[in-house]
Amino acid sequence: MVASKYAKRDLMQSEFTQRANAVPAHGLGLSVDVYSPDLLHLVRSLRDAGLQPGYLEVFKATTSAMQWVRRQLPDMKLPYHGEGLWVTQPDFPRSCSGTQGVAEACAQILALRSAWLNHECATKQMAGYSFGTYLPPLYTELSARMTAENLAFLQGQVDEQARRHGADPALVLLEMPPFTYFGCGSLAIPAFFRSVTDRVACGLVLDIGHLWTVYRYTGAWRRQTLGAFVAEFLDAFPMERVIEIHVAGLAEFTAQGTAQHTVAAEAPYWIDAHGAPIPEVLFDLLAQVLVHPRLTCLKGVALEVDTKPVATIVIEFRRFCDRFESMVTSVVQAGVAHSLTRSAVDERSGTRQLLTMDEQAALREQYRAYVQFVATEQPLPMSEHLSLLGGSLDDLNRYRGIYLPHEVLHWGGELHDMFPRTCSRLATAHLPLERFVSFWFSRPRTDEQDYDFFLLKIERFVEFVAHDCPSAAVTVKEEAEELRAAYRAANEPTESVEVRA
Ligand SMILES: [Fe+2]
Repeated sequence: MVASKYAKRDLMQSEFTQRANAVPAHGLGLSVDVYSPDLLHLVRSLRDAGLQPGYLEVFKATTSAMQWVRRQLPDMKLPYHGEGLWVTQPDFPRSCSGTQGVAEACAQILALRSAWLNHECATKQMAGYSFGTYLPPLYTELSARMTAENLAFLQGQVDEQARRHGADPALVLLEMPPFTYFGCGSLAIPAFFRSVTDRVACGLVLDIGHLWTVYRYTGAWRRQTLGAFVAEFLDAFPMERVIEIHVAGLAEFTAQGTAQHTVAAEAPYWIDAHGAPIPEVLFDLLAQVLVHPRLTCLKGVALEVDTKPVATIVIEFRRFCDRFESMVTSVVQAGVAHSLTRSAVDERSGTRQLLTMDEQAALREQYRAYVQFVATEQPLPMSEHLSLLGGSLDDLNRYRGIYLPHEVLHWGGELHDMFPRTCSRLATAHLPLERFVSFWFSRPRTDEQDYDFFLLKIERFVEFVAHDCPSAAVTVKEEAEELRAAYRAANEPTESVEVRA
C-alpha cells in the first residue's frame, strides 16, 4: 500500500515534469482583464514607458473577445486565467461548471493558444448555495482527493480538445486562494496541496498576497514573524510544482464597499484587492520565495492588475522589473536547464475515480455544513473534525457581519439601483433589505444554469419579495424583467463582461 502510494506520487511527478517541460519560459508578466482596464490601452501605455511584459495572463471573457485579443497581440504569450470552474466541488464533471464551463474554457484556451490554464482552488457555488466572491475549499484530506479527481478530469478535457484541434495542450494550474478573514478545515494548507499533487500531475500558482492573508487569518501572525511563517510554509508546500507566481494588491474592506489601502498596522485587516496598490512587504516576500531551493519549474511571475488604474500599473511594473528582472530570469532559466536533464515519461494518468459514492456524499454534506457555518452561524458538526483553520471567531464574524451582507446586497449590482420601485415599497412596509441576506441562505438550489451572480440576484430577489412582501410581487417581477432585458441587450453584440472577484 505504502509502496503503491509512492509509485503513484512518482508517476504524477514524472507526468508533471513532462508537461512542464513543454511550457516555455514566460518571464515577468501581468495578469489582466480584457476590459478593466482596457487591455490595448494598457499595452500601449507600457510600450510608451519603454516596458514590454513577457506575457499577459488573460482573465476569462468571451471566446470572441479572446480571438480578438489574439489578433491584436499576435506575438504575445497569452496564458489563461479561468473562472467559474468549481474544481473543489463534488459533482463537478456533471455540473454546469464542469460541462458548459469547461467547454468554454477549452475554447478560450485554443483562441489564445495558452500554455496554461490557471484556476483558483476555490469556489463561488457549493452545496446549492451561491456567493459573489470566492470561498476557499474545506482544507481536509477528503476535499484534497476530490479536488485532485476533478483536476484530472479537467486536464483530460483540455487534452482532448487540444488533440482534436492539433494544438499543444495547456497545463492545468491550481492557485492557492486567499483567506477573506477565515479558512476552515483540519489539514494544514501546504499538506492539502501536497495531497493534491501526489494524486494529479497539475502545476500550482503561488500568490504572494494570498500567502499573506493565510499568515494573517490563521492567526500565525500572533506566534511568529512573517519571514519565519513563510519559510516554514514553503518548506512544506509542493514548491517543485509552482509554475507561476502572482503578486497583487491588498487592502482593507469597508462596509461602504471601498477598498482602502492603509499604512500597515501590526496586523491590518487586508484582503486580496487587485485594484489596490501592492504593499512593499509582498515584494520582500517574493524575494524570499524566489530563492527557495525547490522552486525548480517556475515559468513566470505576474502582477495581477485587473481593475487597477493604468498609471499605477505602469509604475508598479517598472518597480517590479527593476528589482526582479534578473532574479526571475535566472530562476526560470535554471528551471528550463534542470528540466532538460530529466527523462520524459510518456505516460498519462488519465481521469480516475478517487472517491467512493459514500465519500462524495459525505463531502457534499460537509460543504452544506460549511455554508451554514459561515453564513448562518450554525456550528460545524464535531464528528467531521472541521473547525476554523486557526484564526479567530472575531475574524469570521467580520466576514459574516460585514463582508457577506455587502456581497448579497451590493456586490455585482446595487439592489436600490436595480429595484428602485420595489425597494421603496419594502421601505414603506418597514421591511429591512437585510432580511434578503438570510433569505439568500435559507435553502439550496440546483445550478441548472451557468453561474452569473447578477442574474442569480435578480431571481432570488423576486422570490424574496414574493415571499416576504407579496403586495410588491408584481412590481418586483416587472423590474426584474426590465433588468433581464437590459442585460441581454447590453450583452448581445459584445457578450458579457465579467469582473474578476
Ligand atoms: Fe492570484
